Amino acid sequence: MTIGFLDSGIGGLTVLSEALRRLPANDYLYMADTLHVPYGTKPMEEVRAYVLEAVETMVATGIDALVIACNTATSIAVAELREKYSFPIVGMEPAVKPAVEMNRATGKRVLVFATPLTLQLPKYYGLVSRVDEKGIVDSLPLPELVGYCENLQFDTALMRDYFLGKLAGYDLNQYGIIVLGCTHYPFYRSILRQVLPAHIQIVDGNVGTIKRLTALMNRFGIAERHGNGSIKFMCTGGEEAYVDKMRSALSFYQELSMPSEL
Ligand code: SIN
Repeated sequence: MTIGFLDSGIGGLTVLSEALRRLPANDYLYMADTLHVPYGTKPMEEVRAYVLEAVETMVATGIDALVIACNTATSIAVAELREKYSFPIVGMEPAVKPAVEMNRATGKRVLVFATPLTLQLPKYYGLVSRVDEKGIVDSLPLPELVGYCENLQFDTALMRDYFLGKLAGYDLNQYGIIVLGCTHYPFYRSILRQVLPAHIQIVDGNVGTIKRLTALMNRFGIAERHGNGSIKFMCTGGEEAYVDKMRSALSFYQELSMPSEL
């Protein structure tokens, strides 16, 4: 049983890390679309074509299930991919619904961080208009963050100043939860924890995605075909150095060990 993970770059490793914890007895194929990273600042049709092409390569390599471990790619292509392929396909959804439910009692607001493209797409504003009856959800696009992440800029003074600058116009006392709506962003939990007031919880959709994957694999009757936890890393640009970068970024993230706070 090989589960494919697709992202534009290293962001999907934060989701793979959750899969390795919860489903260790499978084999994994991780594909980074290094030729086209970042997705979240490009036009939708362009990203759609990149995603379809990358998935074709993964299918040709051999996968039994697919996780679109990228919020932007999910919003654009998950429905089309589900029509095209018969194996289980799971995508990302920003954890807006649980965040709104939690904050109902406190009266605090929810702030969603995501790429500009994710925040413009119908999947996102459809989700918000379904679950945010009281109008407590605000969205903050972070167009530069995937680039910083791909350059492995994590716990640095530069990143601290970046977040402080982005949040300067917000009264953070009004907010109870920050939702990380891009799979690259959980790499910034530790620096965000330093920048944000202690009462703000930081949540992502990674656990929910792996729970949905598990349920779907059970439904398709493919959960029992175990592998040995191996990971094959691929990237569309074929760069060997990038494969090394993926391995070290995964170890870095696993050592961070800062799970979603919801
Ligand atoms: C990207 O912009 O490449 C990252 C996309 C995402 O996870 O939303």
